[in-house]
Amino acid sequence: MSADIDRTNPPTSDTVTKAVIPVAGLGTRFLPATKATPKEMLPIVDKPAIQYVVEEAVQSGLHDVLMITGRNKRSIEDHFDRAHELEEALAAKGEEDRLRSVRASNDLAQVHYVRQGEPRGLGHAVLCAEAHVGESPFAVLLGDDLIESADLLCRMIEVRQRHGGSVVALMEVEPEQVSLYGCAAVEPTEEEDVVTVTDLVEKPSPEEAPSRWAIIGRYVCDPAVFPILRHTPPGRGGEIQLTDALLELARAKPEEGGGVHGVLLRGRRYDTGNKADYIRTVVDFAFRRPELAEELLPWLREFVDRQDAVDHG
Ligand code: G1P
Repeated sequence: MSADIDRTNPPTSDTVTKAVIPVAGLGTRFLPATKATPKEMLPIVDKPAIQYVVEEAVQSGLHDVLMITGRNKRSIEDHFDRAHELEEALAAKGEEDRLRSVRASNDLAQVHYVRQGEPRGLGHAVLCAEAHVGESPFAVLLGDDLIESADLLCRMIEVRQRHGGSVVALMEVEPEQVSLYGCAAVEPTEEEDVVTVTDLVEKPSPEEAPSRWAIIGRYVCDPAVFPILRHTPPGRGGEIQLTDALLELARAKPEEGGGVHGVLLRGRRYDTGNKADYIRTVVDFAFRRPELAEELLPWLREFVDRQDAVDHG
């Protein structure tokens, strides 16, 4: 991790250059696979899920990545570091493609790490980034959400540069799904894909939900979120919630770093946070590789036919 910033000479830059990725979760939904392996390292075809997220940050212009880690996460650090022995072995065998794929993850970004210490929620994880981030706006990317293209985060950064404040990514979900997400009340702006956020509720019941607009795991936060997080009491699930701090920012004045906009998701988003969605994501990503699709499609058709025969026979 970088040294604490010098408060007597704070950075003045208002550009977003840093990405914060919380990876301290225990991954209990994937036990026993996640007993000794972080859930972020589970492969989506042949790349760990976390690499797609770092690639998205880099494609959005964020080359400085801070991971908020916990115990048992060493393999994430190893993945984004050089693997000299492996590289030498591949080079000696002339396996250039594999060598390139091994080097890709350590050449990707400047990756830093800080430990969360205790699992006190997403808001607390983000607060752990304060010393590294300093006084500039920054992005937060949650590893359970894979977003098809970096256009969404690029657009969020652009909205931040124009309007100041913070920005969340929003997706419309079915009423029975709102309780899985932070949920936002919104008002339209002159831009079709940008809204002003007027209220936020973390994981509301369908009756409490102010809308069907769900926060997905991409944020651009004003550094004013840090002092707020320091006094945000535990909320839903007894955890310090980023959503609660953002609500306070939505109600704060622009000169206090307040104001929250929402950018509506246009492309696709893949969830890797539970088993069924994870498997869907793996299949979807596999079928985007022509060489795999060719081999898998006939098998999948046959498999479905066989299942149908079992179900109806
Ligand atoms: C977190 C946030 C929630 C957001 C969600 C997006 O919840 O607290 O507001 O909607 O990520 O994936 P989690 O899924 O980590 O419980």
